[in-house]
Amino acid sequence: MSRFCSLIIMGPPGAGKGTQARVISERLGVLHIDCGQVVRKEVASQTEFGLKAKEYMLAGRLVPDELIIGIMLKRLKVADCANGFLLDGFPRTVEQAKGLDNYLSAKDAKLDYIIFLGITERTAIQRLTSRRFCPSCGRVFNILTAPPKVEGVCDNCGREIEQRPDDKPETVIARLKVYELETAPLRNYYKDSEGYLEFDGDKPGEAVTEDVIDAINAGGRCK
Ligand code: AP5
Repeated sequence: MSRFCSLIIMGPPGAGKGTQARVISERLGVLHIDCGQVVRKEVASQTEFGLKAKEYMLAGRLVPDELIIGIMLKRLKVADCANGFLLDGFPRTVEQAKGLDNYLSAKDAKLDYIIFLGITERTAIQRLTSRRFCPSCGRVFNILTAPPKVEGVCDNCGREIEQRPDDKPETVIARLKVYELETAPLRNYYKDSEGYLEFDGDKPGEAVTEDVIDAINAGGRCK
C-alpha cells in the first residue's frame, strides 16, 4: 500500500467488524480505528464525552451524532492516519456518513472501500452473548468458537476475561433493533458508491478475510 487508502467496515453488531478489521488493516498496512473502542476508552477515563456516552452504551443506544462525529473527526486528524485508515463502527448513521464525506472531500479524498458484512440475527445473538474480552490487553475471545487455552483466562496476559456489559442478552436485542432503525439505512446511502462491497459474514472468519482481501485486490484502489 503506497498511497492514502480509506476504508470503512460496517454491519450489524456481531458481524465480525472488529475481528476482520484487525486482520485486514494489518494486511493492507492501514490503521484500524475501532469507534466502539474509542468510546469505551473515553468512558473508562471519565472524560466529559465519556460521561455522556456511557448511558447510551449501556442502554444499547447510539451516542448522539454531534458528539460522535466530533470525537471521530478529531481522531482522524492525528498523524498516525496519514497513510489512511480502516474505520470500524463509524459511520453508523446517514448523518455520520455525511460528516465523514465532508471531512474527506475537504482533503480532496473519498472512501476507497465500503465493506459490508451481513449476518443473520441468530448468528449475531449467539456470537455476542458468547464473546469475552481481556480488560488488560483488549484481546477478544469467544467461549464457543475461539475460547482461551485456559478457561476464563487471557492467553496473552493471564488476566481474567470478562463479558462486555452491552453483550448481555437484553442489551444485544436492543442493539440489534437500533441497528435496523438507524444503521441499516446506511446500506442504501452507500450501495451505489464505487468501492461498495458486500460479504457473507456468517462464514468462518478466515474465509471472510480472504473474500474481502480478494475483492480489494481485484478493485485495485489500495495499491
Ligand atoms: P461497538 O463496539 O462498535 O459495537 P457493535 O457495532 O455493536 O459491534 P461489535 O463490536 O459488538 O461487533 P463486531 O461486528 O465488531 O463483532 P466482533 O468482531 O467482536 O459499539 C459499542 C457501542 O458504542 C454502541 O452500541 C454505541 O453505543 C457506541 N458507538 C460506537 N460507535 C458509534 C457510532 N458510530 N455512533 C454512535 N454510537 C456509537 O465479533 C463478535 C464475536 O463473534 C467475537 O467473539 C468473535 O470472536 C466472533 N466472530 C467474529 N467473526 C466470526 C466468524 N466469522 N465466525 C465465528 N465467530 C466469529
